[in-house]
Amino acid sequence: MTFLFLFNSIAYFYFKLDNIMETFKGSKTEQNLAKAWYLETANIRLYEIFAKQAKKDGFEQISAIFMEVAEQKRSHTKTIYRFLHDSNVETVSAFSSKKFDNIQDCLRVASELELNESTILFEEFERIAWEEGFKRIATKFKLFRRIKQFYHERFATLLSNIEEGKVFKRDKKVKWICRKCGLIYESDRALKNCPGCEHPQAYFEILAENY
Ligand SMILES: [Fe+2]
Repeated sequence: MTFLFLFNSIAYFYFKLDNIMETFKGSKTEQNLAKAWYLETANIRLYEIFAKQAKKDGFEQISAIFMEVAEQKRSHTKTIYRFLHDSNVETVSAFSSKKFDNIQDCLRVASELELNESTILFEEFERIAWEEGFKRIATKFKLFRRIKQFYHERFATLLSNIEEGKVFKRDKKVKWICRKCGLIYESDRALKNCPGCEHPQAYFEILAENY
């Protein structure tokens, strides 16, 4: 009895898998996954460029955040690629770019880009995946949208911190840590140079202990 149940379950699973694979080929979701793969791949490259701009403008922490997000997006592309492991589709992607002269421009672009992808592009990808019955893929799109929403908010906050002069100055004492040598001290502002390693203010960030 148990054996029969097990056999039926396995047979059902394979039938279901075959069914999914059959309907996946040529589906809109297959196309959308390919589009999502290109989008996220392009975002990785863009954020590596923005990370360089942040360094150039004296914001080491922001540079590191762009690199961290780029690395997380690498994980998104891996997830997407796994679903597309045996696909052969043609996609046409729109390309648009914006001129940037400083890290403020980069943060503005990144914040808008993440919001746009979360609320428009990936929203459509998710909706179509649900409609076509690809629940696992739809759930991934839903989660990617949540991540993008967070990126959008974080880039917007980093931008307003620069605009309000809050990156290296706060209205009360906080603990600052030097990203280069690990020196910690308490003040309402980051020093112009680190007394530990002599590196510039760009290397200071507010200490966060999240463990
Ligand atoms: Fe230092």
